[in-house]
Amino acid sequence: MLFTLTSGSRTTVCKRKGELSAVWASGGSFAKYSLLGRRFTRRFTALRQKAPFVRRALLFGCTLIAEATIAPAVVAQKVQLSVDVSKASVKIDRNIFGQFAEHLGHGVYEGIWVGPDSTIPNTRGIRNDIVAALRALKVPNVRWPGGCFADEYHWRTGIGAQRVVTLNPNWGGVIEPNTFGTHEFMDFLDQIGAEAYISVNVGSGTPREAAEWLEYLTAAQPTTLAKERAANGHQAPYRVSSLGIGNESWGCGGNMTPDYYLSQLKIYTRFVRNFNPSQQDKQQMLKIAVGPGGSETEWAYWTEAVMRAYQNRQWSWDINGLSMHSYTVGHWPPSFASVGFGETEYSKILKFTLEMEDLVSKHSAIMDKYDPQKKVALVVDEWGAWYAPLPGTNPGFLVQQNSLRDAILAALNLNIFAHHGDRVRMANIAQMINVLQAMILTDKEKMVLTPTYYVFKMYVPFQEATFVPVAFDAGTYVHGEISLPRMDALAAKDTAGKLWLAFTNLDPNQSIEVEASLAGIIARSAAGETLTGPKVDSVNTFDAAKTVVPKPISAKVEGRKLDLTLEPKSVTVISVEQ
Ligand code: AHR
Repeated sequence: MLFTLTSGSRTTVCKRKGELSAVWASGGSFAKYSLLGRRFTRRFTALRQKAPFVRRALLFGCTLIAEATIAPAVVAQKVQLSVDVSKASVKIDRNIFGQFAEHLGHGVYEGIWVGPDSTIPNTRGIRNDIVAALRALKVPNVRWPGGCFADEYHWRTGIGAQRVVTLNPNWGGVIEPNTFGTHEFMDFLDQIGAEAYISVNVGSGTPREAAEWLEYLTAAQPTTLAKERAANGHQAPYRVSSLGIGNESWGCGGNMTPDYYLSQLKIYTRFVRNFNPSQQDKQQMLKIAVGPGGSETEWAYWTEAVMRAYQNRQWSWDINGLSMHSYTVGHWPPSFASVGFGETEYSKILKFTLEMEDLVSKHSAIMDKYDPQKKVALVVDEWGAWYAPLPGTNPGFLVQQNSLRDAILAALNLNIFAHHGDRVRMANIAQMINVLQAMILTDKEKMVLTPTYYVFKMYVPFQEATFVPVAFDAGTYVHGEISLPRMDALAAKDTAGKLWLAFTNLDPNQSIEVEASLAGIIARSAAGETLTGPKVDSVNTFDAAKTVVPKPISAKVEGRKLDLTLEPKSVTVISVEQ
């Protein structure tokens, strides 16, 4: 193997039996070398560090081999980073931490609802363990009842003493008992402390059906529908904070063209009213139109059409949000395994997930043309990893495991949303329990919290915090053909003025030494939690629930300097005490 060092015009080639080849990239501040077929980059933060390295390497040729043959996981990379708290800007809307619960597989039935007669501890049929776990996430809103399910859902099947039993043709064709309906959903929200984001049926329903559902939910005056609600157990009007006007109306929601959808949208936003007296002014219900499902031209066309119509709207209709769906899937149909994979699949999925940045930027730019004041939010109300169904499960139930890779994926996406906080003001991970990239998995009375759950928990302090820009050179993590930023970071100032920092080390092999310089704050100490696991596909199971759980971490702080080591493949959140 060859070990080649080049500095300016000088090149040294070392030969040694075995393991190492290396290239010094001249003029840059990094050295690239490969060892046992894997590539590494050593970054130098200052010339004074680089010079001795070059001298040593050129003088002694292969002495670098000794350095490079150290086990790769302990060769820390350095990343310098600067944060200026006085530059705090846009609020990170807590609604970007929203959840999605569809009538799909065991998402609602078994996941949330076990019924009041169950031996599983519950409150009015809703699992107590799930409620306790979700309360800790401070879930801001839950999107319900779908998904594709929403465009075939007729709300009257799910109220009153006698529920109508139907089918769920979208998801396995199974029986839909409708025992979890409007009141049960609102009770669930009340128990976990979240707001309602209801999707109304545009595909197979009518504006009248949707209007009556909203009147049933929100009217305070004694209308027949409000009295029916009271008779069914809820005297006071409910709050509905967001309303989705259809779901994927270009696909499972009715295969509509943009023009056809727009004609429906205008009718629904006109007639589907929220009558709750507390939601008539600032707390008004947000109306969210169906938006794009990807980045290709057809989706740009959809966003253009809705936003152009919005710009030219009459007084009689309005929207406050445009939905966008984007899953990290690789290729359809989903074929990546959710567990039992290696570094190649890890790096590929992270590469796919980072396309969210482009997607958000692209559709935000279109929205900016028609709505420069950014009144309409981009609502990423379905996002997350979508893998091959776990062997032996009903493919219509979208059951997958949730690994450390998903935790990292979640952090990267949340960071993207926060960075676009001026436009992205709501997002809903798909889905909350037992379906796709879930927070929680259940099996009868058992429950396990996933790595994704812990990321949402660690990110709670970012809810409603103010975004603070962070400058850093992430470096590159390379695996085969895939090259990714080695690190990602997010900073924010919470409502009490405390600085929070989140770091993601994407590199599964090397730790990172972060050297942060802080401006606008005199720091005394910094500590928090870090989440990692033994392998990129490590998961929590019912029998081993603590494989990927956060553990405490602290940083070294001296005045305006903060030093912190990030473990390979980890998500870390710390707060800085002044
Ligand atoms: O989340 C699963 C499905 O994905 C939803 O029902 C649908 O909206 C999307 O295609």
